[in-house]
Amino acid sequence: DTHDPTSLRTPIVAVLGHVDHGKTSLLDKIRGSAVIEGEAGAITQHIGATAVPLDVISSIAGELVDPDDFDLPGLLFIDTPGHHSFTTLRSRGGALADIAILVVDVNDGFQPQTLEALDILQRSQTPFIVAANKIDTVPGWNANEDSPINATYEAQSDRVRERLDESLYEIIGNLSDEGFSADLYWRVQNFQRNVGVVPVSAMTGEGVPDLLAVMMGLSQRYMKEEMEIDVAGPGVGTVLEVKEEKGFGKTVDLVLYDGTLRADDTIVVGGTNEPIVTDVRALLQPRPLEEIRTESRFEKVDEVSAATGIKVAAPDLGDAIAGAPVRVVRDRERADVIAEVEDEL
Ligand code: GTP
Ligand code: MG
Repeated sequence: DTHDPTSLRTPIVAVLGHVDHGKTSLLDKIRGSAVIEGEAGAITQHIGATAVPLDVISSIAGELVDPDDFDLPGLLFIDTPGHHSFTTLRSRGGALADIAILVVDVNDGFQPQTLEALDILQRSQTPFIVAANKIDTVPGWNANEDSPINATYEAQSDRVRERLDESLYEIIGNLSDEGFSADLYWRVQNFQRNVGVVPVSAMTGEGVPDLLAVMMGLSQRYMKEEMEIDVAGPGVGTVLEVKEEKGFGKTVDLVLYDGTLRADDTIVVGGTNEPIVTDVRALLQPRPLEEIRTESRFEKVDEVSAATGIKVAAPDLGDAIAGAPVRVVRDRERADVIAEVEDEL
Protein backbone atom coordinates (compact mmCIF):
# COMPACT_ATOMS: atom_id res chain seq x y z
CA ASP A 1 0.00 0.00 0.00
CA THR A 2 1.02 3.63 -0.48
CA HIS A 3 1.45 6.32 2.13
CA ASP A 4 1.68 10.09 2.28
CA PRO A 5 5.24 11.18 3.02
CA THR A 6 4.12 12.34 6.46
CA SER A 7 1.23 10.75 8.20
CA LEU A 8 -0.16 10.19 11.66
CA ARG A 9 0.97 7.11 13.48
CA THR A 10 -0.98 5.11 16.04
CA PRO A 11 -0.45 6.33 19.63
CA ILE A 12 1.15 3.72 21.90
CA VAL A 13 -0.89 3.06 25.04
CA ALA A 14 0.69 1.24 27.99
CA VAL A 15 -1.67 -0.53 30.38
CA LEU A 16 -0.19 -0.51 33.88
CA GLY A 17 -1.35 -1.45 37.36
CA HIS A 18 -1.14 -3.78 40.34
CA VAL A 19 -1.33 -7.55 39.91
CA ASP A 20 -4.86 -8.87 39.24
CA HIS A 21 -6.43 -5.42 38.93
CA GLY A 22 -7.64 -6.39 35.45
CA LYS A 23 -5.19 -5.05 32.83
CA THR A 24 -5.27 -8.12 30.61
CA SER A 25 -9.03 -8.56 31.09
CA LEU A 26 -9.60 -5.00 29.97
CA LEU A 27 -7.57 -5.50 26.80
CA ASP A 28 -9.21 -8.85 26.37
CA LYS A 29 -12.60 -7.21 26.49
CA ILE A 30 -11.45 -4.66 23.95
CA ARG A 31 -9.99 -7.31 21.68
CA GLY A 32 -12.87 -9.66 22.15
CA SER A 33 -10.48 -12.57 22.26
CA ALA A 34 -9.50 -14.91 25.03
CA VAL A 35 -5.82 -14.16 25.55
CA ILE A 36 -6.30 -14.41 29.29
CA GLU A 37 -6.98 -18.13 28.97
CA GLY A 38 -3.69 -18.72 27.19
CA GLU A 39 -1.70 -17.19 30.02
CA ALA A 40 0.54 -19.35 32.15
CA GLY A 41 -0.83 -19.19 35.69
CA ALA A 42 -2.46 -16.00 36.79
CA ILE A 43 0.38 -13.63 35.94
CA THR A 44 1.27 -12.13 32.59
CA GLN A 45 4.93 -12.85 32.04
CA HIS A 46 5.55 -10.99 28.81
CA ILE A 47 4.71 -7.75 27.17
CA GLY A 48 2.47 -7.98 24.13
CA ALA A 49 1.30 -5.35 21.67
CA THR A 50 -2.17 -5.15 20.16
CA ALA A 51 -3.30 -2.72 17.51
CA VAL A 52 -6.94 -1.69 17.58
CA PRO A 53 -7.99 0.24 14.48
CA LEU A 54 -10.24 3.29 14.70
CA ASP A 55 -13.24 1.54 13.13
CA VAL A 56 -13.10 -1.18 15.80
CA ILE A 57 -12.79 1.45 18.54
CA SER A 58 -15.75 3.25 17.09
CA SER A 59 -17.89 0.13 16.89
CA ILE A 60 -17.18 -0.64 20.58
CA ALA A 61 -17.61 2.95 21.76
CA GLY A 62 -20.79 3.56 19.74
CA GLU A 63 -21.90 7.16 19.67
CA LEU A 64 -19.05 8.20 21.98
CA VAL A 65 -16.56 7.84 19.11
CA ASP A 66 -17.52 9.21 15.70
CA PRO A 67 -14.74 8.08 13.34
CA ASP A 68 -15.15 11.31 11.32
CA ASP A 69 -13.86 13.30 14.32
CA PHE A 70 -10.48 11.56 14.27
CA ASP A 71 -7.59 11.20 11.90
CA LEU A 72 -5.40 9.07 14.15
CA PRO A 73 -5.52 5.48 12.87
CA GLY A 74 -6.37 3.80 16.20
CA LEU A 75 -4.52 2.78 19.37
CA LEU A 76 -1.67 0.35 19.96
CA PHE A 77 -2.00 -1.22 23.42
CA ILE A 78 0.91 -2.67 25.36
CA ASP A 79 -0.05 -4.96 28.23
CA THR A 80 2.35 -5.12 31.18
CA PRO A 81 2.54 -7.57 34.08
CA GLY A 82 1.54 -6.38 37.56
CA HIS A 83 3.50 -8.93 39.59
CA HIS A 84 6.15 -7.24 41.74
CA SER A 85 9.05 -9.08 40.13
CA PHE A 86 8.52 -7.48 36.71
CA THR A 87 9.62 -3.91 37.40
CA THR A 88 11.86 -3.70 34.32
CA LEU A 89 9.09 -4.87 32.00
CA ARG A 90 6.83 -2.20 33.47
CA SER A 91 9.36 0.60 33.09
CA ARG A 92 10.04 -0.46 29.51
CA GLY A 93 6.31 -0.40 28.69
CA GLY A 94 5.88 2.91 30.49
CA ALA A 95 8.87 4.57 28.83
CA LEU A 96 7.76 3.52 25.36
CA ALA A 97 4.21 4.76 25.77
CA ASP A 98 2.78 8.01 24.45
CA ILE A 99 -0.10 7.66 26.84
CA ALA A 100 -1.14 5.20 29.54
CA ILE A 101 -4.06 3.60 31.35
CA LEU A 102 -3.47 2.97 35.05
CA VAL A 103 -5.84 0.19 36.09
CA VAL A 104 -7.00 0.24 39.73
CA ASP A 105 -9.40 -2.30 41.25
CA VAL A 106 -12.18 -0.22 42.88
CA ASN A 107 -12.34 -2.57 45.87
CA ASP A 108 -8.64 -3.08 46.33
CA GLY A 109 -7.64 0.55 45.76
CA PHE A 110 -4.03 1.70 45.60
CA GLN A 111 -1.44 -1.06 46.03
CA PRO A 112 2.39 -1.19 45.80
CA GLN A 113 2.56 -1.63 42.01
CA THR A 114 -0.06 1.09 41.52
CA LEU A 115 2.35 3.47 43.24
CA GLU A 116 5.28 2.09 41.27
CA ALA A 117 3.39 2.61 38.01
CA LEU A 118 2.56 6.20 39.01
CA ASP A 119 6.23 6.79 39.65
CA ILE A 120 7.16 5.42 36.20
CA LEU A 121 4.53 7.63 34.55
CA GLN A 122 5.67 10.69 36.45
CA ARG A 123 9.33 10.13 35.59
CA SER A 124 8.62 9.51 31.90
CA GLN A 125 6.10 12.42 31.84
CA THR A 126 3.53 10.16 30.23
CA PRO A 127 -0.05 11.49 30.28
CA PHE A 128 -2.47 8.92 31.67
CA ILE A 129 -5.98 8.21 32.79
CA VAL A 130 -7.12 5.91 35.58
CA ALA A 131 -9.48 3.03 34.83
CA ALA A 132 -11.32 2.30 38.09
CA ASN A 133 -12.02 -1.33 37.24
CA LYS A 134 -14.41 -4.03 38.51
CA ILE A 135 -17.36 -1.70 39.18
CA ASP A 136 -19.58 -4.77 38.63
CA THR A 137 -18.37 -6.12 42.00
CA VAL A 138 -19.96 -3.28 43.96
CA PRO A 139 -22.58 -5.14 46.07
CA GLY A 140 -26.02 -4.90 44.46
CA TRP A 141 -24.65 -3.87 41.06
CA ASN A 142 -27.11 -4.11 38.19
CA ALA A 143 -25.03 -4.92 35.13
CA ASN A 144 -25.73 -3.39 31.74
CA GLU A 145 -23.42 -5.14 29.31
CA ASP A 146 -21.12 -2.85 27.30
CA SER A 147 -23.03 0.25 28.38
CA PRO A 148 -21.48 3.72 28.58
CA ILE A 149 -20.96 4.69 32.24
CA ASN A 150 -23.59 7.40 32.32
CA ALA A 151 -26.45 5.06 31.37
CA THR A 152 -25.44 2.24 33.70
CA TYR A 153 -24.83 4.67 36.59
CA GLU A 154 -28.38 5.99 36.18
CA ALA A 155 -29.70 2.42 36.28
CA GLN A 156 -28.22 1.70 39.76
CA SER A 157 -29.97 2.11 43.08
CA ASP A 158 -29.03 5.06 45.31
CA ARG A 159 -27.14 2.72 47.65
CA VAL A 160 -25.07 1.20 44.86
CA ARG A 161 -24.29 4.65 43.47
CA GLU A 162 -23.16 5.81 46.91
CA ARG A 163 -20.92 2.79 47.34
CA LEU A 164 -19.35 3.32 43.93
CA ASP A 165 -18.87 7.04 44.58
CA GLU A 166 -17.10 6.25 47.86
CA SER A 167 -14.63 3.95 46.12
CA LEU A 168 -14.06 6.41 43.30
CA TYR A 169 -13.42 9.31 45.70
CA GLU A 170 -10.97 7.17 47.61
CA ILE A 171 -9.01 6.64 44.38
CA ILE A 172 -9.19 10.36 43.62
CA GLY A 173 -7.90 11.02 47.16
CA ASN A 174 -5.05 8.55 46.70
CA LEU A 175 -4.05 10.27 43.48
CA SER A 176 -4.11 13.60 45.25
CA ASP A 177 -1.86 12.19 48.01
CA GLU A 178 0.64 11.34 45.27
CA GLY A 179 0.51 14.88 43.91
CA PHE A 180 -1.91 14.37 41.01
CA SER A 181 -4.99 16.50 40.72
CA ALA A 182 -7.73 14.09 39.62
CA ASP A 183 -11.47 13.94 39.07
CA LEU A 184 -14.13 11.82 37.41
CA TYR A 185 -13.33 12.08 33.74
CA TRP A 186 -16.52 13.88 32.69
CA ARG A 187 -15.58 16.75 35.03
CA VAL A 188 -12.08 17.14 33.63
CA GLN A 189 -11.61 20.08 31.28
CA ASN A 190 -7.88 19.90 30.75
CA PHE A 191 -6.49 16.37 30.66
CA GLN A 192 -2.94 17.69 30.65
CA ARG A 193 -3.43 19.21 34.09
CA ASN A 194 -5.90 16.79 35.64
CA VAL A 195 -6.07 13.02 35.69
CA GLY A 196 -9.43 11.66 34.54
CA VAL A 197 -10.86 8.66 36.38
CA VAL A 198 -13.06 6.36 34.25
CA PRO A 199 -15.20 3.76 36.08
CA VAL A 200 -15.17 0.50 34.08
CA SER A 201 -15.77 -3.21 34.24
CA ALA A 202 -13.57 -5.46 32.14
CA MET A 203 -16.06 -8.21 32.90
CA THR A 204 -19.30 -6.58 31.71
CA GLY A 205 -17.76 -3.98 29.38
CA GLU A 206 -19.49 -1.12 31.22
CA GLY A 207 -17.52 2.10 30.87
CA VAL A 208 -15.30 0.61 28.15
CA PRO A 209 -16.89 2.91 25.51
CA ASP A 210 -15.96 5.88 27.73
CA LEU A 211 -12.43 4.61 28.25
CA LEU A 212 -11.84 4.30 24.51
CA ALA A 213 -13.46 7.66 23.79
CA VAL A 214 -11.27 9.40 26.38
CA MET A 215 -8.09 7.74 25.07
CA MET A 216 -8.90 8.68 21.46
CA GLY A 217 -9.90 12.22 22.46
CA LEU A 218 -6.79 12.75 24.54
CA SER A 219 -4.52 11.46 21.79
CA GLN A 220 -6.18 13.51 19.10
CA ARG A 221 -6.25 16.70 21.16
CA TYR A 222 -2.84 16.68 22.81
CA MET A 223 -0.68 14.30 20.85
CA LYS A 224 -1.53 14.78 17.22
CA GLU A 225 1.63 16.73 16.45
CA GLU A 226 3.87 14.14 18.09
CA MET A 227 2.17 11.49 15.97
CA GLU A 228 3.25 13.14 12.72
CA ILE A 229 6.00 10.97 11.34
CA ASP A 230 7.82 10.38 8.10
CA VAL A 231 6.25 6.98 7.53
CA ALA A 232 8.52 6.16 4.63
CA GLY A 233 11.67 6.99 6.64
CA PRO A 234 14.00 4.40 8.19
CA GLY A 235 12.29 2.60 11.08
CA VAL A 236 13.00 3.17 14.77
CA GLY A 237 11.80 0.91 17.56
CA THR A 238 12.41 -0.74 20.91
CA VAL A 239 12.96 -4.43 21.66
CA LEU A 240 10.28 -5.86 23.96
CA GLU A 241 11.47 -9.45 24.01
CA VAL A 242 14.13 -11.74 22.60
CA LYS A 243 12.60 -15.13 21.84
CA GLU A 244 13.42 -18.45 20.25
CA GLU A 245 10.94 -19.08 17.44
CA LYS A 246 10.60 -22.50 15.83
CA GLY A 247 12.14 -22.42 12.35
CA PHE A 248 13.58 -18.92 12.80
CA GLY A 249 16.07 -19.20 15.68
CA LYS A 250 16.39 -16.18 17.96
CA THR A 251 13.92 -13.43 17.04
CA VAL A 252 13.07 -10.06 18.57
CA ASP A 253 9.58 -8.75 19.26
CA LEU A 254 9.71 -5.02 18.89
CA VAL A 255 7.51 -1.99 18.89
CA LEU A 256 8.20 0.20 15.88
CA TYR A 257 7.37 3.81 16.78
CA ASP A 258 8.74 5.67 13.77
CA GLY A 259 9.20 5.07 10.02
CA THR A 260 9.09 1.77 8.17
CA LEU A 261 10.86 -1.53 8.51
CA ARG A 262 11.25 -3.66 5.38
CA ALA A 263 12.05 -7.32 4.90
CA ASP A 264 15.27 -6.41 3.02
CA ASP A 265 16.53 -3.84 5.55
CA THR A 266 19.80 -3.92 7.46
CA ILE A 267 19.15 -3.08 11.11
CA VAL A 268 21.24 -2.15 14.14
CA VAL A 269 20.03 -3.61 17.46
CA GLY A 270 21.39 -2.90 20.95
CA GLY A 271 23.26 -5.98 22.23
CA THR A 272 24.89 -7.12 25.48
CA ASN A 273 28.42 -6.35 24.27
CA GLU A 274 28.03 -4.08 21.26
CA PRO A 275 25.38 -3.08 18.72
CA ILE A 276 24.39 -5.97 16.46
CA VAL A 277 24.35 -5.21 12.75
CA THR A 278 22.23 -7.73 10.87
CA ASP A 279 20.08 -8.25 7.78
CA VAL A 280 16.38 -8.90 8.32
CA ARG A 281 15.41 -12.38 7.20
CA ALA A 282 11.68 -12.14 7.81
CA LEU A 283 9.10 -9.77 9.28
CA LEU A 284 6.48 -11.81 11.08
CA GLN A 285 3.14 -10.27 11.80
CA PRO A 286 0.33 -11.65 13.92
CA ARG A 287 -3.07 -11.46 12.33
CA PRO A 288 -5.02 -8.28 13.12
CA LEU A 289 -6.54 -8.05 16.59
CA GLU A 290 -4.51 -10.97 17.87
CA GLU A 291 -1.86 -10.95 20.50
CA ILE A 292 1.73 -11.15 19.26
CA ARG A 293 2.90 -13.30 22.14
CA THR A 294 0.29 -16.03 21.79
CA GLU A 295 0.14 -16.01 17.99
CA SER A 296 1.91 -19.05 16.59
CA ARG A 297 1.01 -18.68 12.95
CA PHE A 298 2.64 -15.54 11.67
CA GLU A 299 2.17 -13.93 8.37
CA LYS A 300 5.36 -12.89 6.51
CA VAL A 301 5.12 -9.28 5.40
CA ASP A 302 7.34 -7.13 3.16
CA GLU A 303 7.01 -3.92 5.12
CA VAL A 304 5.50 -2.47 8.29
CA SER A 305 4.97 1.15 9.35
CA ALA A 306 4.85 2.74 12.78
CA ALA A 307 3.32 2.25 15.19
CA THR A 308 3.10 -1.50 15.31
CA GLY A 309 4.33 -4.59 17.10
CA ILE A 310 6.37 -6.91 14.87
CA LYS A 311 8.53 -10.00 15.24
CA VAL A 312 11.85 -9.80 13.40
CA ALA A 313 13.85 -12.85 12.38
CA ALA A 314 17.50 -12.14 11.56
CA PRO A 315 20.91 -13.78 12.17
CA ASP A 316 22.91 -12.95 15.33
CA LEU A 317 20.01 -11.73 17.48
CA GLY A 318 21.04 -13.98 20.41
CA ASP A 319 22.76 -11.07 22.21
CA ALA A 320 19.95 -8.55 21.66
CA ILE A 321 18.61 -7.04 24.88
CA ALA A 322 15.02 -6.34 25.83
CA GLY A 323 14.52 -2.58 26.06
CA ALA A 324 17.31 -1.86 23.55
CA PRO A 325 16.87 0.43 20.53
CA VAL A 326 16.45 -0.84 16.98
CA ARG A 327 17.29 1.33 13.97
CA VAL A 328 17.05 0.72 10.24
CA VAL A 329 20.20 1.63 8.26
CA ARG A 330 18.58 1.90 4.78
CA ASP A 331 20.51 4.52 2.74
CA ARG A 332 22.45 6.05 5.63
CA GLU A 333 26.02 5.47 6.79
CA ARG A 334 26.17 2.32 8.85
CA ALA A 335 28.63 3.89 11.32
CA ASP A 336 26.26 6.80 12.00
CA VAL A 337 23.39 4.45 12.80
CA ILE A 338 25.62 2.35 15.08
CA ALA A 339 26.61 5.55 16.91
CA GLU A 340 22.93 6.49 17.34
CA VAL A 341 22.16 3.08 18.86
CA GLU A 342 25.19 3.31 21.18
CA ASP A 343 23.98 6.73 22.35
CA GLU A 344 20.60 5.30 23.31
CA LEU A 345 21.94 2.30 25.24
P1 GTP B 1 -1.44 -9.39 36.05
O1 GTP B 1 -1.17 -9.51 34.59
O2 GTP B 1 -1.10 -10.63 36.77
O3 GTP B 1 -0.78 -8.19 36.64
O4 GTP B 1 -3.03 -9.20 36.29
P2 GTP B 1 -4.05 -8.34 35.41
O5 GTP B 1 -4.07 -6.95 35.91
O6 GTP B 1 -3.79 -8.53 33.96
O7 GTP B 1 -5.44 -8.98 35.84
P3 GTP B 1 -6.36 -9.99 34.98
O8 GTP B 1 -6.92 -9.30 33.81
O9 GTP B 1 -5.60 -11.23 34.76
O10 GTP B 1 -7.56 -10.20 36.01
C1 GTP B 1 -7.37 -10.76 37.30
C2 GTP B 1 -8.68 -11.37 37.77
O11 GTP B 1 -9.66 -10.37 37.95
C3 GTP B 1 -9.27 -12.39 36.80
O12 GTP B 1 -9.85 -13.42 37.54
C4 GTP B 1 -10.36 -11.60 36.09
O13 GTP B 1 -11.42 -12.40 35.64
C5 GTP B 1 -10.83 -10.67 37.20
N1 GTP B 1 -11.36 -9.40 36.65
C6 GTP B 1 -10.72 -8.54 35.86
N2 GTP B 1 -11.50 -7.48 35.58
C7 GTP B 1 -12.68 -7.70 36.22
C8 GTP B 1 -13.91 -6.96 36.31
O14 GTP B 1 -14.08 -5.87 35.76
N3 GTP B 1 -14.89 -7.51 37.08
C9 GTP B 1 -14.74 -8.69 37.72
N4 GTP B 1 -15.76 -9.14 38.44
N5 GTP B 1 -13.62 -9.40 37.65
C10 GTP B 1 -12.59 -8.92 36.91
MG1 MG C 1 -2.24 -9.46 32.96
